[in-house]
Amino acid sequence: MSVLPRVLDVVADRTVVPGYTKLGFLLRKRFWAPLPPDALRGKRVLITGANSGLGKAAATAMARLGGTVHLVVRDAERGERAKSGIQAEVPGAAIRVDLCDVSDLDDVRRFAATVTDVDVLVHNAGTLPPERTETAQGNEVTLATHVLGPHLLTELLTPALREGEPGRVIFVSSGGMYSQPLRIDDPQYLDGEYNGTKAYARTKRMQVVLALLWGRRLECDGITVHSTHPGWAATPGVTDSLPGFAKLMGPLLRDAEQGADTVVWLAAAEEGGRPETTGQFWHDRAPRPAHYLRRTRETAAQREALWQFCEERTGR
Ligand SMILES: NC(=O)c1ccc[n+]([C@@H]2O[C@H](COP(=O)([O-])OP(=O)(O)OC[C@H]3O[C@@H](n4cnc5c(N)ncnc54)[C@H](OP(=O)(O)O)[C@@H]3O)[C@@H](O)[C@H]2O)c1
Repeated sequence: MSVLPRVLDVVADRTVVPGYTKLGFLLRKRFWAPLPPDALRGKRVLITGANSGLGKAAATAMARLGGTVHLVVRDAERGERAKSGIQAEVPGAAIRVDLCDVSDLDDVRRFAATVTDVDVLVHNAGTLPPERTETAQGNEVTLATHVLGPHLLTELLTPALREGEPGRVIFVSSGGMYSQPLRIDDPQYLDGEYNGTKAYARTKRMQVVLALLWGRRLECDGITVHSTHPGWAATPGVTDSLPGFAKLMGPLLRDAEQGADTVVWLAAAEEGGRPETTGQFWHDRAPRPAHYLRRTRETAAQREALWQFCEERTGR
């Protein structure tokens, strides 16, 4: 990227609202090269939470690029509805519906045992609950959905990802994570009054750290691991969980396709498979700082503690 676009890009990012809304997307898009039309031909992509919002938009775009796309969903009917919708938009799209509740570690194990072949794994499923709830294994639900389920699925699918050329893993995090440090002292949110938005942001911070750790771990296998944030997009997740915010931002919100763009790019562009890109946090096709505030920075020991916690909690 030449100097002026780069300066505009960074200014939009640091001033948040222009960068995260569709203004930032439309500004940056002018400088992007289109993906090759068959970029995912012959590739198998698994996307969790792909029946709506960004997951469905990413699935549609990846099917359009020739990929075989698995919608990994927890509700068969919603999955089949999404599949029909995508096939109506992309005639001949190779779409499968797979059932998995990613917050349920037993279900993750069951599902992973059915997968033999995957090139791209997208951890997109997300939730922002109004109150603290626990899964069947006694894990707080945002932790289970955003961190423990994806950690276990990545671990169990590593052999299948090694067969990819090269395999890629993408965590869909959130810009909300900038507000929170890595809370490895209270990962299950047991201390203090529960706040769903905070729980969401804490676990989105964990995803960014996990992507970094998984990136290092899988480097020798040629598998790249990324985290990304979509900016602010009008999806059921945002309009249902944050109606006030959605109303405030109104037409400035990105559409789901714009929000999903970097996920698709990381999955399909040559850059997303380059070893030097692994472990980074991306937004609008560029790596971004993982921290803007000194108080959110974590130490190497805290990162290691997160890894140990995930290993223990997923029974590895
Ligand atoms: N939209 C934004 O502006 C924005 C901003 C930052 C980050 N994100 C992230 O982007 C991702 C997608 O969110 P979205 O905005 O597209 O929201 P969404 O429309 O609510 O999509 C979330 C998807 O996750 C699925 N899901 C939730 N828990 C699951 C579980 N335990 N197992 C399997 N699937 C599960 C949901 O399935 P059901 O239909 O069955 O509930 C739904 O398909 C999330 O990780 C979110 O945190 C979005």
